[in-house]
Amino acid sequence: MAIDFACGNPGSGAELRPQDANHRLGTAGSKLPLAEQLPLLVEAIAAGYRHFDTATLYGTEEIVGQAVAEALGRGLIKSRDELFITTKLWCSDAEHDLVLPALNESLRKLGLQYVDLYLIHWPIRIQKDDTNSIKTLHFDIKGTWEGMEECCRRGLAKSIGVSNYSCAKLSTLLENATIPPAVNQVELNVSWQQQKLMEFCKDKGIHVCAFSPLGAYGSYSGYNVVVESPILKDIATARNKTAAQVVLRWIRQQGGIPIVRSFNKERMKQNLQIFDWELTDEEVGKIQQIPQQRACNPANLVGPHAQYKSLEELWDGEI
Ligand SMILES: NC(=O)c1ccc[n+]([C@@H]2O[C@H](COP(=O)([O-])OP(=O)(O)OC[C@H]3O[C@@H](n4cnc5c(N)ncnc54)[C@H](OP(=O)(O)O)[C@@H]3O)[C@@H](O)[C@H]2O)c1
Repeated sequence: MAIDFACGNPGSGAELRPQDANHRLGTAGSKLPLAEQLPLLVEAIAAGYRHFDTATLYGTEEIVGQAVAEALGRGLIKSRDELFITTKLWCSDAEHDLVLPALNESLRKLGLQYVDLYLIHWPIRIQKDDTNSIKTLHFDIKGTWEGMEECCRRGLAKSIGVSNYSCAKLSTLLENATIPPAVNQVELNVSWQQQKLMEFCKDKGIHVCAFSPLGAYGSYSGYNVVVESPILKDIATARNKTAAQVVLRWIRQQGGIPIVRSFNKERMKQNLQIFDWELTDEEVGKIQQIPQQRACNPANLVGPHAQYKSLEELWDGEI
């Protein structure tokens, strides 16, 4: 297996380990009850997945922690250090003094001493305990990041990063950060190729993790433009691959790190089979022709009374 992922937070002494980059599994949004997801997470470790993406929001931190404990108990891994666990700060805790307690709570749920990567989930702050009507408050990009840096310094997060940041927000962050972000986790797939952001992140040494690499296939009604793209299907047929494998391979060739979710044993294995073949320049050229459309838009968090008046403002025009 190729090892091509070396990143960390320069200056922090913390490094993301290269060997874990190739096997990553998302844990958001499955319709299966959590009790049914747990054995599938253990199956994933048995199949070779080593990187798990969770978040306070997803409610999967406990089962990820339980899967780690079970994998250790069954001897599937020898040490927790063989795994790469990412979790995320939810918007209700996106405030300087709330970051450290939020991570401590995540660690308690995970049953771990540290996470490998801690991300700010969105550049948005919402009022805590306001579950029915969400009220957005001012998001302090600098102060929240200082809280993240403290987590890194204390060794509770080996690396820190962000999610859903535009180039403009990354620039502001970089101007104010003592520890630069290791990762920006964003929507990235053949139907949302993000060339400007990819180039910006490459230039700044920030790794891009691709969420919804399959366009969250089956999750948004009527939105199947990734896996069912005719261009992708043609390439898949010609190469004797699945459309999912083609898009995952494409992300990898763009320098992104796909985080794909499957709780189906066969598809879990299928999604790992992307490392020993390559798309040609011609195939990549065809993929560039696929119409572009962002799927993940938190429309309920923007508006006249919110910090961002529109989605255009949230994404700083990168929409
Ligand atoms: N940072 C953020 O704001 C953010 C936002 C969204 C997601 N994420 C992270 O990214 C992860 C992945 O994104 P996602 O869950 O939105 O969607 P995704 O990985 O693009 O798509 C998941 C869907 O695709 C299906 N699938 C998986 N492999 C397949 C294959 N080989 N062929 C056909 N269908 C396949 C899965 O069904 P089966 O289970 O039945 O296979 C599931 O319904 C999340 O779980 C989460 O960890 C982060």
